[in-house]
Amino acid sequence: MKNKLKIGVLGCGHISGDHLLAWQRYADAEVVALCDPQIERARSKAVEFGIAQTFDDPSKMFEQGGLDAVDIITPRQTHAAMIRLAADHGLAALCEKPLCPTHAEAMDLLRSVGDRVRVMVNENWRYRAYFLKIHEWLKTGRLGTVTQARIALWRSNMLPDSDGSIPALRRQPFVAKEERLLIAESLIHELDTMRALFGEMNVVAARLGRNSDRILGEDAAMIMLEADAGHNVIVEGVMTAAGYPFRAPNRLEIAGTRCSVVLDGAVLRLMGAEHEEHVFDEDEVRQGCFDRAIAHFADSLRDGTPFWTSAADQARTLRLVEDAYIMAGAPRRPGIAA
Ligand SMILES: NC(=O)c1ccc[n+]([C@@H]2O[C@H](COP(=O)([O-])OP(=O)(O)OC[C@H]3O[C@@H](n4cnc5c(N)ncnc54)[C@H](O)[C@@H]3O)[C@@H](O)[C@H]2O)c1
Repeated sequence: MKNKLKIGVLGCGHISGDHLLAWQRYADAEVVALCDPQIERARSKAVEFGIAQTFDDPSKMFEQGGLDAVDIITPRQTHAAMIRLAADHGLAALCEKPLCPTHAEAMDLLRSVGDRVRVMVNENWRYRAYFLKIHEWLKTGRLGTVTQARIALWRSNMLPDSDGSIPALRRQPFVAKEERLLIAESLIHELDTMRALFGEMNVVAARLGRNSDRILGEDAAMIMLEADAGHNVIVEGVMTAAGYPFRAPNRLEIAGTRCSVVLDGAVLRLMGAEHEEHVFDEDEVRQGCFDRAIAHFADSLRDGTPFWTSAADQARTLRLVEDAYIMAGAPRRPGIAA
């Protein structure tokens, strides 16, 4: 593939601006068409990013032709249908996480698409600059043997503002109706990042909580995992932590026999046999993971090399998501005796 890749984007909602900026920064591809049934969203992004064609129906965009790949940024319930449509037109697909609402649907999709077209999931968290640095430390043995790890996502985004509105629901209104909320929408990133750093693992216990009465799903979760490498991992999150920013980043700690690691916001420390500290730029970390994931998708398509976050890889993360929901059962209500 010598010419610029021609990309069609499906879905022009909340997160599409981050994708479109990443595509704009990648020299060897061009977004040539945008599609959203809410056509005014497609038109507004077309003006902002200088894109000529807009569609209100995915079939029309596919039938028009002229594309090498699509970038799917639509609600999770629509991902499988959009990927099948792309496969029927011989187009590679980059799809937002979660690949499908359930692990079973993801496995069905993988079977039906087979190797007809290449599919990558925009599981972008693991492409964040500080996680890539930790990856490098682990690979070069600087931690020694990892003996335990925990990662937390503590935010205040489900607590009402002074006007009574909820920041998480203003940003993504659709999550109010999701029966699977915090793990399926957010902690999937942390589960995936733990797999990327430590290899395969299994869920051994999980619990959910729901504090807000404006949502159907959980706004608190704790998941305990056993890594095949032998150590334990905790992934946990809560959306009702007063004093924490709406979009607070992770806190991660890794215990190693040679060096341990602490990631607190954008400050990453290596301590023990060696000491190192890196202070990252939050904005670069946020947009940079979209830039890197999208560049990786396009480079891998052009070079014929494997995707780091392939659809098959995402299915392994979705198995952890599924197991966590199965083991947790219904969310508990804090303050209300069971
Ligand atoms: N990787 C990340 O960091 C990240 C962050 C936020 C959201 N997401 C994921 O991105 C996806 C979209 O999330 P969002 O917050 O942008 O949602 P959103 O509701 O703001 O936007 C989705 C858009 O898709 C449109 N749409 C629905 N069906 C469509 C179809 N068949 N073809 C074209 N457009 C269609 C809707 O009209 C809407 O404008 C979800 O899967 C979500 O989990 C990922």
